[in-house]
Amino acid sequence: MKIINSIIHMQALAIAPEREGRRIAFVPTMGFLHEGHASLLREGRKRGDVLVLSIFVNPIQFGKNEDLDSYPRDMERDFQLAEACGVDIVFIPTATEMYPEGFQTGVSVREIALPLCGASRPGHFDGVATVVTKLFNIVRPDVALFGCKDFQQLAVIRRMTVDLNLPVEIVGMPIVREADGLAMSSRNAYLSPAERQSALSLSRAIKRARELFASGERSIDVLEKETRALIEQESTAVIDYVEFRDGATLQGLEVADSNTLLALAVKIGQTRLIDNTVLGEEL
Ligand code: PAJ
Repeated sequence: MKIINSIIHMQALAIAPEREGRRIAFVPTMGFLHEGHASLLREGRKRGDVLVLSIFVNPIQFGKNEDLDSYPRDMERDFQLAEACGVDIVFIPTATEMYPEGFQTGVSVREIALPLCGASRPGHFDGVATVVTKLFNIVRPDVALFGCKDFQQLAVIRRMTVDLNLPVEIVGMPIVREADGLAMSSRNAYLSPAERQSALSLSRAIKRARELFASGERSIDVLEKETRALIEQESTAVIDYVEFRDGATLQGLEVADSNTLLALAVKIGQTRLIDNTVLGEEL
């Protein structure tokens, strides 16, 4: 497994003749890897001849009062997991090389980036779209893998890839959960044992909404009230949003169908967690 820090070096490997016609599969991450990331890497291993993992805590996608400085890091453990998943190249650029003095260009996706996390975290998806575009230009992947855990992020990246004619196939992968239902996230490391219990309210609410939908409930009003009530039972949980939207456009709805997305963002203590489900999707 090669570890590359320099952009020029990574780009040189990705461009012929060094590449020799091999397909590159790419998994961009911010590190502190877990089984969710591993599922992307394993699928990438199947889809490419060369598997590239990037680890970069992208400063421009964090808001002023967010957790950029405290974002969890453990390179040694990340290397072990990467190696076990068959990664060929780990690309770890520096922030100063990614955003040198004078940097002033960005990629901004419009409607689909506006609601949900776009509304709670202004500028976040501009930061994501910009860094993913840069990473695509550096790594030159044929296929890139993203998790449905970040449903709106995946939608933004799909939109951007189509709109900008980026020659990359985007693959979305299912949410990987802990045995008790908590969606895996690097940010789960922030949770105290008591908060870890409260955090189960997100997956419990999702389960409840899915059950209601499966038993025939189609009113978004009813579904939303029930889902919110379940989370509000948890005294340490503060809802950022609980929203039902069209899974393709992310527009608001009054009546649920099988492609309706339930997206949640909830603060447990200081930790903001997200989770989601598509009501009619088989798990
Ligand atoms: P990060 O949070 O490290 O996530 C990297 C990838 O892993 C994303 O595609 C995310 O959706 C996926 N992922 C995280 N938890 C998952 C889970 N429980 N199940 C399945 N997939 C999961 O998302 C980012 O980094 C950044 O925004 C990035 C795209 C790297 C741009 O900076």
